Amino acid sequence: MSAAKKLIRKAVLPVAGLGTRFLPATKAIPKEMLTVVDKPVIQHVVDEARAAGIEHFIFVTGRNKGVIEDHFDTQFELERTLAQRGKTRELEALIRDLPSPGQASFTRQQAPMGLGHAVWCARNIVGEEPFALLLPDMLHHGKIPCLATMIDAYAEKRGNIVSVSAVPDDQTHQYGIVGVEDASAAVAPITKMVEKPPRGTAPSNLHITGRYILQPEIFELLGEQEQGAGGEIQLTDSMIRLMHDLKQPFHAVRFDGELYDCGSKIGFLMANFAYALERSDLGPQLKAEIKKLL
Ligand code: G1P
Repeated sequence: MSAAKKLIRKAVLPVAGLGTRFLPATKAIPKEMLTVVDKPVIQHVVDEARAAGIEHFIFVTGRNKGVIEDHFDTQFELERTLAQRGKTRELEALIRDLPSPGQASFTRQQAPMGLGHAVWCARNIVGEEPFALLLPDMLHHGKIPCLATMIDAYAEKRGNIVSVSAVPDDQTHQYGIVGVEDASAAVAPITKMVEKPPRGTAPSNLHITGRYILQPEIFELLGEQEQGAGGEIQLTDSMIRLMHDLKQPFHAVRFDGELYDCGSKIGFLMANFAYALERSDLGPQLKAEIKKLL
């Protein structure tokens, strides 16, 4: 692990959302535990963070999310049974996915007051250091983990880093949108940010993809942030104040892999196909089966 990667040690993963778009699947199961191939969505995101050198995972959970904590804990009986049956490969995979003791923290967002409020709930565990934030709905699928590319950019630029990618103009109102100095650059200073701009008013078509590196000053701003779009405490609104009032720099890093919004049914289904198709144990057969369906 390069020294630069250790510039960012902690990652916040907000997992308190209700998952209403996936009912009835999410009535008793958190949406983050829905599987993409054979791993819960949240495990894919933790894998991305770990591949970028993250050492401490901070989950902001809510009521009915206890199973996420169980997923990242040892399951003694299961491990013993796998060992007794000689299922070494399965056992190794289970152990590999586990955070080491003390590497995971869980705190609860007690009311659904928005993403900004969820992030603020992690302030005491993050403390006074820059941190990564990964929104688990968004799977970033590329050769290099998205967060690793961002940490490399951070080593050079410092300040705050946001991952962006282009969306069609008719979708800009669904996301946080940034304006940049040079839209073609891989890493570009951000000049403008707006959360869910009304149709036709977006400063560009570059949307925030759900990966951030933020300075700890964001927490104080979040603590006094008023409700924004949708009546929620919006993270982007505090990021705007961090940029304009506290004069902290923000850079956009372009993500050039595939993005799957697992908060939407199509995105979730596509993630399953894409991740399965590239696996040697599943891909060829799945391809043949899909051809039969079409
Ligand atoms: C959140 C952020 C938004 C970002 C999006 C990515 O919105 O507020 O800036 O573009 O995630 O998925 P949400 O999806 O919670 O409405």
